[in-house]
Amino acid sequence: MTKPVLPAKAREVRLARYVTDQPTKDDFEIAEVKLAKPGDGEVVVRNQFLHVTAVMRDLMTEDPGLPMMPGNKLGERLWGGGIGVVVHSESPDMAVGDLVMNMDGWAEYSVGPSADYFKVDPSWYPGPEYFLSQGPTAYHGMVDIAEVGDGDVVYVSGAAGGVGSLAGQIAKCRGAKRVIGSAGSAAKVKYLVKELGFDAAFDYHDGPILDRLRELAPDGITVFFDIVGGAQFEAAVQAAAQDARFALCGTLSAQSGDKEGAFPRLDIMAAIVRQIVIRPFSTYHTPEQIMAWHQHFSQWLQEKRFVFPHTMVKGGMPAAPGALIGLMHGKHKGNVIVKLSDS
Ligand SMILES: NC(=O)c1ccc[n+]([C@@H]2O[C@H](COP(=O)([O-])OP(=O)(O)OC[C@H]3O[C@@H](n4cnc5c(N)ncnc54)[C@H](OP(=O)(O)O)[C@@H]3O)[C@@H](O)[C@H]2O)c1
Repeated sequence: MTKPVLPAKAREVRLARYVTDQPTKDDFEIAEVKLAKPGDGEVVVRNQFLHVTAVMRDLMTEDPGLPMMPGNKLGERLWGGGIGVVVHSESPDMAVGDLVMNMDGWAEYSVGPSADYFKVDPSWYPGPEYFLSQGPTAYHGMVDIAEVGDGDVVYVSGAAGGVGSLAGQIAKCRGAKRVIGSAGSAAKVKYLVKELGFDAAFDYHDGPILDRLRELAPDGITVFFDIVGGAQFEAAVQAAAQDARFALCGTLSAQSGDKEGAFPRLDIMAAIVRQIVIRPFSTYHTPEQIMAWHQHFSQWLQEKRFVFPHTMVKGGMPAAPGALIGLMHGKHKGNVIVKLSDS
């Protein structure tokens, strides 16, 4: 293999201004920076794809309040995940050509100790972008927290987004009897049923959510995977079956709207008499959680029981800010990925 020529400079996305509501173009700066010279034990990685997620918006605020995830600082590179190829190695542990995941932020090139990169086997998937998804969260939440299984009637809020589009499919693969999703448009509702195999779906703008849940799950929901909070959580409590399990994953209604969505009212008596188990959770992406996802995802794909729900945003690094802005406004379906390069 011919040794790739390293560029003198490469682009990265930085935080230009703290976000107070929704991110806008002025909150981002695309900077061209000198590529650092790799030291002993370090590698240079050319990112092929970047992952875009809702938490990136939270990390752009001045005080995100996420203990395990420090917020971005003004003028610094934005936090985020990517996958790419080792193009130069000063480490005995990695070779030129290795495919690696990293959390070094939104940059065309990443330079650092080889231990900071997670080497993956490209033969697992049709393309490197399959490694970038909210799968570890969706799998951990649905399997370990909600303990979904045979016969469950599952409701997933925010079902057409990155986490939700995977969570619903995981529930089906784990034997759920019926999976219902909510999303923000008729096109997304159709996408859930026609392309992702949900049994039913509805637009949460179309009338009272509780009416839709009672109609679609007349015997009650046994598992609720909540990505939205607010009114969807309140309706799910009313629509819950006896001993239902709730896995609380996110509060999109608060992250993209007013803050009230993070503070839904809990009908305590309904929760008591139905003995609802409510489990909020955070995924820390341990190697075990990551591997559990990839083992099942690659197997289910091969068995043609699963599709990879994603939106590929083209246009390279300049397109990355718009991809996050679009995600928060519900423009995309599934997991959002920015394509930086072909090789
Ligand atoms: N607990 C954990 O460990 C963990 C880990 C990762 C992510 N999360 C959380 O999981 C959630 C999903 O993350 P993601 O990155 O996959 O994002 P995502 O679901 O792809 O987020 C974008 C979607 O949010 C929906 N949305 C926007 N405003 C909404 C509103 N007011 N009400 C309902 N839905 C709204 C839009 O869908 P519609 O068009 O359908 O409205 C949009 O497509 C986030 O809350 C994130 O913080 C938690």
